[in-house]
Amino acid sequence: DETTIHYRTINVTAADAAGTITICRPKALNAINTLAMEEIVHAAHALDKRPDVKAIVITGDGTKAFAAGADIMEMAGQTYDEAYHKRFMEGWTGLAAVRKPIIAAVNGYALGGGCEVAMMADIIIASENAMFGQPEVNLGVIPGMGGTQRLIRAIGKSKAMDVILCGVRLTAAEAHTAGLVSRVVSLNQLMPEARSMARNIASLSSIAIAKAKDCINRAYEIPLSEGLRYEQREFWSAFALEDQYEGMQAFLEKRQASFKDK
Ligand code: CAA
Repeated sequence: DETTIHYRTINVTAADAAGTITICRPKALNAINTLAMEEIVHAAHALDKRPDVKAIVITGDGTKAFAAGADIMEMAGQTYDEAYHKRFMEGWTGLAAVRKPIIAAVNGYALGGGCEVAMMADIIIASENAMFGQPEVNLGVIPGMGGTQRLIRAIGKSKAMDVILCGVRLTAAEAHTAGLVSRVVSLNQLMPEARSMARNIASLSSIAIAKAKDCINRAYEIPLSEGLRYEQREFWSAFALEDQYEGMQAFLEKRQASFKDK
């Protein structure tokens, strides 16, 4: 049971509990323009609402690039006041409201805005040919979709400075060692791995999954003591779920749990 909706810069499919957003601008190595941003955020929200979808995968069309950055053609003639008035790239904040886990399946170049979109996801899986970088300073600008904030949290200050100031690119293996990426697989295993991750997530209680994702992402926003309080309350309230009773009962009865998302 697969549904396909057509956008102009992305393809969206939903099958087997996973909604997949494929950035599809192959002639520009999937560079992300304003329309692509709007379509990705729109599609992510549409998939978030669908009860049959339990996780969202974002990937790039083809084998060469996840996304080679924000669209330089679109940005080249842009002035400060234009960027200011149209709130250039601000629309990405909408992705943070998505409750379901977002998995970035990075195939090839994830440079600039491509690396930043991957970092907006909850988990990054990379193919062996993936390459991460933030080359914006070469263009006389700086990362503008979260790169300076998320990369330091993912790989620490010194490495983040090296990537952003010195143009160092991270291979999949280096990104894995540095903690940016959680799994590295061969290119032909990338989508199967992402789908299997989505299927595993789908077999669990979607409320527990959403609570866990929310708590982890809160750690970016608030101090530890507040984060711990936040987690405690989310943990306590999990005992109001039928899924908590079912999950623990199934363990005690040595059977597979059947979660109802309530
Ligand atoms: N925007 C627009 N077009 C792009 C693009 C981008 N970010 N990246 C690649 N393309 C286009 C190229 O212009 C080229 O188009 P033509 O065939 O019409 O000439 C096509 O994609 C293929 O690219 P290349 O011929 O350059 O392919 P390559 O294999 O020789 O090199 C690459 C690949 C190393 C990724 C190289 O394309 C590259 O360096 N791209 C730009 C990377 C970059 O600087 N990204 C940061 C953008 S700024 C940003 O993202 C700001 C932000 O944080 C919000």
